Amino acid sequence: MIEKYVDAEELKRLLSTLGIILGGVLIAGLFAGIVIPGLRNANKPETQTPVAPVGGETGWLDPAEAPPQKGGIIQPVDPKMLIEATPALASRGKALFDANCTPCHGAAGHGDGPAAATMNPRPRSFVSPDGWVNGYGLPGIYKTLSEGIKGTSMASFDYLPKKDRMALGHYVQSLGTFPKQESTQAIADLSKELASAGEKIPNRIPVSMAMAILEKEFSLNPPLAVDRDDQSPGAQVFRRVVVDPSRAAQVLRQSRLWRASIRDLAAAILPDAPGNGFSVNAATLSPSEWQALYSELLSRIKTK
Ligand code: HEC
Repeated sequence: MIEKYVDAEELKRLLSTLGIILGGVLIAGLFAGIVIPGLRNANKPETQTPVAPVGGETGWLDPAEAPPQKGGIIQPVDPKMLIEATPALASRGKALFDANCTPCHGAAGHGDGPAAATMNPRPRSFVSPDGWVNGYGLPGIYKTLSEGIKGTSMASFDYLPKKDRMALGHYVQSLGTFPKQESTQAIADLSKELASAGEKIPNRIPVSMAMAILEKEFSLNPPLAVDRDDQSPGAQVFRRVVVDPSRAAQVLRQSRLWRASIRDLAAAILPDAPGNGFSVNAATLSPSEWQALYSELLSRIKTK
Protein backbone atom coordinates (compact mmCIF):
# COMPACT_ATOMS: atom_id res chain seq x y z
CA MET A 1 0.00 0.00 0.00
CA ILE A 2 2.47 2.51 1.25
CA GLU A 3 4.73 1.57 -1.70
CA LYS A 4 2.27 3.53 -3.78
CA TYR A 5 3.52 6.76 -2.21
CA VAL A 6 7.17 6.12 -1.32
CA ASP A 7 9.65 3.70 -2.77
CA ALA A 8 11.48 1.16 -0.59
CA GLU A 9 14.63 3.25 -0.32
CA GLU A 10 12.66 6.31 0.82
CA LEU A 11 10.74 4.21 3.39
CA LYS A 12 13.97 2.92 4.91
CA ARG A 13 15.23 6.45 5.26
CA LEU A 14 11.99 7.64 6.83
CA LEU A 15 11.98 4.76 9.30
CA SER A 16 15.57 5.35 10.37
CA THR A 17 14.88 9.07 10.82
CA LEU A 18 11.87 8.13 12.92
CA GLY A 19 14.10 5.80 14.95
CA ILE A 20 16.61 8.56 15.58
CA ILE A 21 13.86 10.97 16.65
CA LEU A 22 12.30 8.42 19.00
CA GLY A 23 15.74 7.64 20.44
CA GLY A 24 16.33 11.32 21.05
CA VAL A 25 12.95 11.71 22.75
CA LEU A 26 13.69 8.69 24.92
CA ILE A 27 17.05 10.08 26.03
CA ALA A 28 15.54 13.50 26.70
CA GLY A 29 12.81 11.79 28.74
CA LEU A 30 15.30 9.88 30.85
CA PHE A 31 17.29 13.04 31.36
CA ALA A 32 14.22 14.96 32.53
CA GLY A 33 12.93 12.13 34.69
CA ILE A 34 16.09 10.92 36.41
CA VAL A 35 19.10 13.16 35.95
CA ILE A 36 17.47 16.56 36.56
CA PRO A 37 15.59 15.60 39.75
CA GLY A 38 18.80 13.93 40.95
CA LEU A 39 20.77 17.12 40.39
CA ARG A 40 18.10 19.19 41.99
CA ASN A 41 18.16 17.07 45.16
CA ALA A 42 21.91 16.71 45.26
CA ASN A 43 22.47 19.74 47.47
CA LYS A 44 19.44 19.37 49.69
CA PRO A 45 20.35 18.69 53.29
CA GLU A 46 19.34 15.23 54.34
CA THR A 47 16.12 15.36 56.29
CA GLN A 48 16.61 13.95 59.74
CA THR A 49 14.25 11.21 60.73
CA PRO A 50 13.17 12.10 64.24
CA VAL A 51 14.39 9.62 66.83
CA ALA A 52 11.66 8.71 69.24
CA PRO A 53 12.86 8.92 72.84
CA VAL A 54 13.23 5.57 74.51
CA GLY A 55 10.42 5.27 76.99
CA GLY A 56 8.55 2.84 79.14
CA GLU A 57 9.76 0.14 81.42
CA THR A 58 11.83 -1.79 78.94
CA GLY A 59 14.77 -0.66 76.93
CA TRP A 60 15.64 2.69 78.49
CA LEU A 61 19.32 3.47 78.14
CA ASP A 62 19.64 6.85 79.74
CA PRO A 63 19.99 6.44 83.51
CA ALA A 64 18.48 9.92 83.91
CA GLU A 65 15.30 8.63 82.32
CA ALA A 66 14.74 5.54 84.42
CA PRO A 67 11.07 4.93 85.19
CA PRO A 68 9.74 6.71 88.29
CA GLN A 69 10.08 4.76 91.48
CA LYS A 70 8.55 5.32 94.85
CA GLY A 71 11.07 5.38 97.67
CA GLY A 72 10.74 3.80 101.08
CA ILE A 73 12.48 1.82 103.76
CA ILE A 74 13.34 -1.80 103.16
CA GLN A 75 13.93 -3.94 106.22
CA PRO A 76 17.17 -5.95 106.46
CA VAL A 77 16.93 -9.20 104.52
CA ASP A 78 17.90 -12.71 105.51
CA PRO A 79 20.99 -13.37 103.38
CA LYS A 80 20.27 -17.10 103.17
CA MET A 81 17.08 -16.36 101.28
CA LEU A 82 19.03 -14.43 98.69
CA ILE A 83 22.14 -16.54 98.27
CA GLU A 84 20.26 -19.76 97.50
CA ALA A 85 18.88 -19.64 93.96
CA THR A 86 15.10 -20.00 93.99
CA PRO A 87 12.55 -19.96 91.17
CA ALA A 88 11.05 -16.76 92.61
CA LEU A 89 14.43 -14.99 92.57
CA ALA A 90 15.18 -16.30 89.10
CA SER A 91 11.95 -15.03 87.60
CA ARG A 92 12.35 -11.66 89.32
CA GLY A 93 15.90 -11.57 88.00
CA LYS A 94 14.73 -12.29 84.49
CA ALA A 95 12.12 -9.53 84.57
CA LEU A 96 14.69 -7.04 85.88
CA PHE A 97 17.27 -8.17 83.35
CA ASP A 98 14.84 -7.81 80.44
CA ALA A 99 13.92 -4.32 81.59
CA ASN A 100 17.35 -2.98 82.49
CA CYS A 101 20.15 -4.94 80.94
CA THR A 102 19.19 -6.33 77.53
CA PRO A 103 19.86 -3.11 75.58
CA CYS A 104 23.55 -3.68 76.24
CA HIS A 105 23.96 -7.30 77.29
CA GLY A 106 21.45 -8.82 74.85
CA ALA A 107 18.48 -11.01 75.69
CA ALA A 108 20.65 -14.10 76.22
CA GLY A 109 23.60 -12.27 77.76
CA HIS A 110 25.90 -12.60 74.76
CA GLY A 111 26.86 -8.93 74.99
CA ASP A 112 25.09 -8.22 71.72
CA GLY A 113 22.25 -5.87 72.70
CA PRO A 114 21.31 -3.12 70.22
CA ALA A 115 23.36 -0.55 72.16
CA ALA A 116 26.44 -2.74 72.53
CA ALA A 117 27.97 -2.14 69.09
CA THR A 118 29.12 1.37 69.94
CA MET A 119 30.66 0.49 73.27
CA ASN A 120 34.30 0.21 74.15
CA PRO A 121 34.78 -2.13 75.84
CA ARG A 122 31.74 -4.04 74.69
CA PRO A 123 29.71 -5.90 77.30
CA ARG A 124 31.15 -9.36 77.86
CA SER A 125 29.35 -12.56 77.10
CA PHE A 126 27.81 -14.06 80.22
CA VAL A 127 27.99 -17.55 78.72
CA SER A 128 31.79 -17.66 78.84
CA PRO A 129 33.99 -17.74 81.95
CA ASP A 130 36.75 -15.63 80.39
CA GLY A 131 37.93 -12.23 81.46
CA TRP A 132 35.43 -11.15 84.11
CA VAL A 133 36.62 -8.12 86.02
CA ASN A 134 34.78 -8.62 89.29
CA GLY A 135 34.08 -12.27 88.70
CA TYR A 136 31.02 -14.34 87.86
CA GLY A 137 30.44 -15.49 91.42
CA LEU A 138 27.46 -13.93 93.22
CA PRO A 139 29.76 -11.65 95.27
CA GLY A 140 31.44 -10.43 92.08
CA ILE A 141 28.21 -9.73 90.22
CA TYR A 142 26.73 -8.09 93.31
CA LYS A 143 29.79 -5.82 93.48
CA THR A 144 29.47 -5.00 89.76
CA LEU A 145 25.82 -4.08 90.19
CA SER A 146 26.46 -2.03 93.32
CA GLU A 147 29.46 -0.09 92.04
CA GLY A 148 29.44 -0.33 88.27
CA ILE A 149 32.71 -0.84 86.41
CA LYS A 150 34.89 2.24 86.05
CA GLY A 151 35.88 3.14 82.52
CA THR A 152 33.03 1.20 80.92
CA SER A 153 29.37 1.84 80.19
CA MET A 154 28.48 -0.44 83.08
CA ALA A 155 26.84 1.96 85.52
CA SER A 156 26.04 1.29 89.15
CA PHE A 157 22.59 -0.10 89.82
CA ASP A 158 22.81 0.63 93.52
CA TYR A 159 19.37 2.21 93.52
CA LEU A 160 17.93 -1.27 93.03
CA PRO A 161 17.16 -2.95 96.35
CA LYS A 162 19.72 -5.53 97.46
CA LYS A 163 17.19 -8.24 96.79
CA ASP A 164 16.85 -7.15 93.18
CA ARG A 165 20.62 -6.99 92.73
CA MET A 166 20.83 -10.54 94.03
CA ALA A 167 17.97 -11.69 91.78
CA LEU A 168 19.89 -10.22 88.84
CA GLY A 169 23.03 -11.99 90.01
CA HIS A 170 21.30 -15.35 89.96
CA TYR A 171 19.82 -14.66 86.57
CA VAL A 172 23.17 -13.56 85.08
CA GLN A 173 24.73 -16.75 86.46
CA SER A 174 21.97 -18.86 84.96
CA LEU A 175 22.81 -17.58 81.46
CA GLY A 176 26.17 -19.38 81.41
CA THR A 177 26.37 -23.08 82.11
CA PHE A 178 30.05 -23.14 83.08
CA PRO A 179 30.76 -24.00 86.73
CA LYS A 180 30.91 -21.04 89.10
CA GLN A 181 33.03 -21.59 92.15
CA GLU A 182 32.45 -19.18 95.00
CA SER A 183 34.95 -18.73 97.80
CA THR A 184 33.39 -19.30 101.22
CA GLN A 185 35.04 -16.15 102.47
CA ALA A 186 33.50 -14.06 99.68
CA ILE A 187 30.06 -15.56 100.34
CA ALA A 188 30.45 -14.85 104.06
CA ASP A 189 31.33 -11.22 103.28
CA LEU A 190 28.37 -10.93 100.93
CA SER A 191 26.05 -12.36 103.61
CA LYS A 192 27.31 -9.77 106.02
CA GLU A 193 26.74 -6.99 103.53
CA LEU A 194 23.22 -8.24 102.75
CA ALA A 195 22.30 -8.57 106.41
CA SER A 196 23.54 -5.11 107.33
CA ALA A 197 21.04 -2.36 108.12
CA GLY A 198 17.86 -1.95 106.14
CA GLU A 199 17.93 0.20 103.05
CA LYS A 200 16.48 3.54 102.35
CA ILE A 201 15.37 3.65 98.73
CA PRO A 202 15.04 7.26 97.56
CA ASN A 203 12.19 8.41 95.37
CA ARG A 204 13.35 8.55 91.81
CA ILE A 205 11.77 10.32 88.93
CA PRO A 206 13.16 10.79 85.44
CA VAL A 207 15.02 14.06 84.92
CA SER A 208 12.60 15.09 82.18
CA MET A 209 9.70 14.69 84.58
CA ALA A 210 11.48 16.74 87.24
CA MET A 211 12.09 19.47 84.70
CA ALA A 212 8.45 19.51 83.66
CA ILE A 213 7.41 19.86 87.30
CA LEU A 214 9.86 22.70 87.87
CA GLU A 215 8.68 24.45 84.75
CA LYS A 216 5.08 24.18 85.84
CA GLU A 217 5.92 25.48 89.30
CA PHE A 218 7.81 28.35 87.78
CA SER A 219 4.98 29.33 85.46
CA LEU A 220 2.59 29.31 88.42
CA ASN A 221 5.11 31.37 90.35
CA PRO A 222 6.67 33.92 88.04
CA PRO A 223 9.27 35.91 90.00
CA LEU A 224 8.08 39.06 91.72
CA ALA A 225 9.29 42.18 90.01
CA VAL A 226 8.84 45.93 90.18
CA ASP A 227 9.65 48.32 87.39
CA ARG A 228 13.14 49.69 87.57
CA ASP A 229 11.97 53.26 87.39
CA ASP A 230 9.10 52.80 89.77
CA GLN A 231 10.11 55.14 92.61
CA SER A 232 7.03 54.69 94.77
CA PRO A 233 7.81 53.97 98.44
CA GLY A 234 6.45 50.44 98.03
CA ALA A 235 8.76 49.71 95.10
CA GLN A 236 11.75 51.12 96.94
CA VAL A 237 11.19 48.99 100.03
CA PHE A 238 10.52 46.02 97.79
CA ARG A 239 13.90 46.38 96.10
CA ARG A 240 15.60 46.61 99.45
CA VAL A 241 14.15 43.50 101.01
CA VAL A 242 13.39 41.05 98.18
CA VAL A 243 16.66 39.28 97.40
CA ASP A 244 15.31 36.27 95.52
CA PRO A 245 12.18 37.28 93.61
CA SER A 246 11.32 33.72 92.50
CA ARG A 247 11.59 32.28 95.95
CA ALA A 248 9.71 35.18 97.53
CA ALA A 249 6.90 34.78 95.02
CA GLN A 250 6.66 31.09 95.68
CA VAL A 251 6.62 31.50 99.45
CA LEU A 252 3.98 34.22 99.46
CA ARG A 253 1.74 32.48 96.95
CA GLN A 254 1.73 29.32 99.02
CA SER A 255 -0.10 30.88 101.94
CA ARG A 256 -2.69 33.56 102.43
CA LEU A 257 -2.06 34.07 106.14
CA TRP A 258 0.28 37.00 105.61
CA ARG A 259 -2.46 38.94 103.85
CA ALA A 260 -4.37 39.42 107.09
CA SER A 261 -2.22 42.22 108.48
CA ILE A 262 1.21 43.81 108.48
CA ARG A 263 1.99 41.86 111.62
CA ASP A 264 1.15 38.62 109.83
CA LEU A 265 3.31 39.62 106.88
CA ALA A 266 6.24 40.22 109.21
CA ALA A 267 5.61 36.87 110.90
CA ALA A 268 5.68 35.18 107.49
CA ILE A 269 8.86 36.87 106.33
CA LEU A 270 11.20 37.41 109.24
CA PRO A 271 11.72 33.97 110.83
CA ASP A 272 12.75 32.32 107.55
CA ALA A 273 14.78 35.10 105.92
CA PRO A 274 16.89 34.84 103.87
CA GLY A 275 15.84 31.29 102.89
CA ASN A 276 12.43 32.57 101.83
CA GLY A 277 13.82 35.10 99.36
CA PHE A 278 13.68 38.10 101.69
CA SER A 279 16.66 39.92 103.12
CA VAL A 280 17.29 39.77 106.87
CA ASN A 281 17.29 43.57 106.65
CA ALA A 282 13.51 43.37 106.60
CA ALA A 283 13.82 43.29 110.38
CA THR A 284 14.98 46.92 110.34
CA LEU A 285 12.05 48.35 108.36
CA SER A 286 10.13 51.19 109.98
CA PRO A 287 6.37 50.87 110.48
CA SER A 288 5.69 53.09 107.47
CA GLU A 289 8.02 51.01 105.34
CA TRP A 290 6.21 47.87 106.43
CA GLN A 291 2.98 49.54 105.42
CA ALA A 292 4.42 50.33 101.98
CA LEU A 293 5.77 46.81 101.53
CA TYR A 294 2.51 45.29 102.66
CA SER A 295 0.40 47.21 100.14
CA GLU A 296 2.97 46.57 97.43
CA LEU A 297 2.89 42.82 98.00
CA LEU A 298 -0.89 42.72 98.35
CA SER A 299 -1.26 44.40 95.00
CA ARG A 300 1.33 42.20 93.32
CA ILE A 301 0.40 38.79 94.57
CA LYS A 302 -2.90 37.42 93.45
CA THR A 303 -4.45 34.70 95.53
CA LYS A 304 -4.97 31.35 93.91
C1 HEC B 1 24.66 0.82 79.04
C2 HEC B 1 25.01 -0.55 78.81
C3 HEC B 1 24.90 -1.52 79.95
C4 HEC B 1 23.81 -1.76 80.73
C5 HEC B 1 22.42 -1.12 80.66
C6 HEC B 1 24.20 -2.81 81.63
N1 HEC B 1 25.49 -3.18 81.42
FE1 HEC B 1 26.52 -4.59 82.43
N2 HEC B 1 28.17 -4.12 81.38
C7 HEC B 1 28.26 -3.21 80.37
C8 HEC B 1 29.64 -3.09 79.95
C9 HEC B 1 30.14 -2.20 78.81
C10 HEC B 1 30.38 -3.92 80.76
C11 HEC B 1 31.92 -4.00 80.79
C12 HEC B 1 32.45 -5.03 79.95
C13 HEC B 1 32.27 -6.27 80.67
O1 HEC B 1 33.04 -6.51 81.63
O2 HEC B 1 31.36 -7.01 80.31
C14 HEC B 1 29.43 -4.60 81.63
C15 HEC B 1 29.76 -5.58 82.56
C16 HEC B 1 28.87 -6.30 83.28
C17 HEC B 1 29.19 -7.47 84.08
C18 HEC B 1 30.54 -8.14 84.15
C19 HEC B 1 31.35 -7.72 85.32
C20 HEC B 1 32.69 -8.35 85.34
O3 HEC B 1 33.04 -8.90 86.39
O4 HEC B 1 33.38 -8.31 84.34
C21 HEC B 1 28.03 -7.88 84.66
C22 HEC B 1 27.82 -9.05 85.60
C23 HEC B 1 26.98 -6.98 84.23
N3 HEC B 1 27.52 -6.03 83.39
C24 HEC B 1 25.66 -7.09 84.59
C25 HEC B 1 24.67 -6.19 84.20
C26 HEC B 1 23.31 -6.26 84.65
C27 HEC B 1 22.75 -7.34 85.54
C28 HEC B 1 22.67 -5.20 84.10
C29 HEC B 1 21.23 -4.78 84.30
C30 HEC B 1 20.83 -4.51 85.65
C31 HEC B 1 23.64 -4.48 83.29
N4 HEC B 1 24.84 -5.10 83.38
C32 HEC B 1 23.34 -3.37 82.57
C33 HEC B 1 27.22 -2.49 79.85
C34 HEC B 1 25.95 -2.42 80.39
